[in-house]
Amino acid sequence: MNAVLQLLRDRKSVRVFEERPIELEKKQAILEACMEAPSAGNQQLYTILDITDQLLKEKLADTCDHQSFIAKAPLVLIFCADVMKWLDVYEEADISYREPGTGDLLLAIEDAMIAAQNAVVAASSLGIGSCYIGDILENCEIHRELLNLPEYVVPIGMVVFGYPTKNQLERTKPKRFRLEDIVMENTYKRKDGKALREMFEERTKEKGYDEWVHAFCNRKYNSDFSKEMSRSSSEYLKNFMKEEN
Ligand SMILES: Cc1cc2nc3c(=O)[nH]c(=O)nc-3n(C[C@H](O)[C@H](O)[C@H](O)COP(=O)(O)O)c2cc1C
Repeated sequence: MNAVLQLLRDRKSVRVFEERPIELEKKQAILEACMEAPSAGNQQLYTILDITDQLLKEKLADTCDHQSFIAKAPLVLIFCADVMKWLDVYEEADISYREPGTGDLLLAIEDAMIAAQNAVVAASSLGIGSCYIGDILENCEIHRELLNLPEYVVPIGMVVFGYPTKNQLERTKPKRFRLEDIVMENTYKRKDGKALREMFEERTKEKGYDEWVHAFCNRKYNSDFSKEMSRSSSEYLKNFMKEEN
């Protein structure tokens, strides 16, 4: 296995960090790795917010489902899908442009998350751990104000970085599904009950499929934070839906 494949296999989320900063040149290398990511039409439809204000980190730890480790991360980056900046470019050239729509947002989300993953992989190669924080999509109204976000800019992903503690390094990486559970040849085939139960066999061994899935659904899908994320995302989407409505 080559070094890149090994790195990808070994990477796992890190949620407890050593109390030491990330060296400036390493932070720079991580940010520059983002720039090298592919993007639609080479537009780089994203903006990265580098959160250096400790008070702001603490607020985000609170508004992102009270995940206190966010405030302890030496590096916190928010990847915004940014459709606004090209509209500003068009405006500057006196172009009368159409209203942006959901398709523009989806492209920008792709750009932003690919850049984010470049940061994660680059950090990993430097011995720096990271963790995505999906809850940045919650609390649209609060985050808009806190981060000074204009319309057509959506904070689609947050990643926190830091040197992993020994415990984190030794933590077992969560198991993945088998390749055959995820990859389909040519066209989509919905799984029947038997296939679903087989797919989850490894994860549900102790409790059994039904009990495990009930608990998971309550914790993740039917939970308050998940409902809030859906509500908040709709708020962000409203601007983009103007064109279609
Ligand atoms: C979009 C996204 C959102 C995530 N949000 C959170 C989060 O809010 N809090 C957290 O602790 N981990 C979060 N994670 C990390 C996942 O829990 C983790 O990637 C998954 O359990 C697999 O574990 P691994 O990264 O260690 O391989 C998120 C990951 C992704 C990709």
